[in-house]
Amino acid sequence: MDPLSRARALVGAARRITVLTGAGISAESGIPTFRDALTGLWSRFRPEELATPEAFERDPKTVWEWYAWRRVAVAAAQPNAGHAALAALERWAAGFTLITQNVDGLHARAGSRNLIELHGNIARNRCAGEGCVLADDEAAPGSPPTCRRCGSCVRPDVVWFGEMLDPASLDRAFEAARDCDVFLSVGTSGLVEPAASLPFEALASGVSVIEVNPQPTPLSRRATLALAGPAGEMLPRLVP
Ligand code: OAD
Ligand code: ZN
Repeated sequence: MDPLSRARALVGAARRITVLTGAGISAESGIPTFRDALTGLWSRFRPEELATPEAFERDPKTVWEWYAWRRVAVAAAQPNAGHAALAALERWAAGFTLITQNVDGLHARAGSRNLIELHGNIARNRCAGEGCVLADDEAAPGSPPTCRRCGSCVRPDVVWFGEMLDPASLDRAFEAARDCDVFLSVGTSGLVEPAASLPFEALASGVSVIEVNPQPTPLSRRATLALAGPAGEMLPRLVP
């Protein structure tokens, strides 16, 4: 049986499904990934200059404007067939958890519900001083805006290099990786911890792991099945 047929059989027989996605699932929506040589976001910018608390401290205006530019690009993007397939899979499965490293919000726009946004969401703002999420009317205009309550700079509600992830979200993600019948790892290079450990946690718990990625990753030779193709093409073929 070819890998895709075997993957279809594993998904079709599963009651509880957990999925981890990375930037690759949004590539077909026109959003650059981080590390792809040609289109990679990082190929044009040095991440240390932009996506770190130190960069924001040093030059909040430049960091804010870079995220404002990314927000426009993300708002113009549409969920693709891969996002839609995961929303359909959630409606079909008895139990479903979607863990994403992406901050673009496309999974929610595609209809996914039980969603863990490990690295935050670019559309949300938070007070850099108090740490709380801010509604639009809680920030005074500026570049960056400032918190009306305490006057601190407003920052995007995303995880930057060197920052800790929300412990509760992380616990939920590892629990979902252990407590499922099939784990799908889609569109991630598997280079950034702790998300990169999730598929291996599933394997260690005896869960079948299916990878969807046109390129090989550190997971590929350990996964139960590795489907070498784009998410927009592969995922719809896995939905029962
Ligand atoms: P990367 O850019 O590291 O990896 C994207 C992966 O998607 C690569 O393995 C590509 O081969 C694959 N890919 C490209 N096109 C695809 C397609 N159409 N379908 C499926 N896969 C495709 O992005 P991430 O692994 O998401 O963290 O990066 C993880 C984290 O590193 C990001 O969340 C970000 C970055 O530091 C933070 O910002 C905290
Ligand atoms: Zn504040």
